[in-house]
Amino acid sequence: MKAAIRYYSKFGHSKQMAQAIAEIVRQNPLTVESPLAEQVDVLFLGAGIFLGSVNKSVILFINTLTPDKVGCVVLFGSSALISEPTKGMREALVKRGVKVYDKVFECKGAMGPLNSGHPDKHDLEALRAFVSEIVK
Ligand SMILES: Cc1cc2nc3c(=O)[nH]c(=O)nc-3n(C[C@H](O)[C@H](O)[C@H](O)COP(=O)(O)O)c2cc1C
Repeated sequence: MKAAIRYYSKFGHSKQMAQAIAEIVRQNPLTVESPLAEQVDVLFLGAGIFLGSVNKSVILFINTLTPDKVGCVVLFGSSALISEPTKGMREALVKRGVKVYDKVFECKGAMGPLNSGHPDKHDLEALRAFVSEIVK
């Protein structure tokens, strides 16, 4: 199974999450500034929320994807206030006709003292378990 990992991370949280995924799928995690170089079966795509939405660069990346380039996208994300940080990415992917895995990995992300320390080691362990289930 060919896999790839892309993320956007303003405060380093999605980067940490992408690195945890990389430990399982053994792929180098890259930012959304790097377009997919080849067709993949699974793309892990993640970002946090800033001022209510994912960064525009995530949507620009999604708009480079087509159903023939990606078998399925698995979303991950974190946030402090909103409950579904991956929702905007899913909507943009669905518009492109790209298949999105039903389950997502979402956890708390720090915003100052709110959710301080998240994603923490338990979040990252849960993420590794989530990814292991998918790629087993
Ligand atoms: C300045 C700032 C603004 C934020 N704005 C939001 C927001 O509008 N809604 C939300 O749910 N979380 C918000 N957060 C929490 C981030 O989504 C959270 O820290 C996330 O883990 C960031 O992921 P990243 O470092 O990968 O970008 C904010 C955090 C900071 C520090």
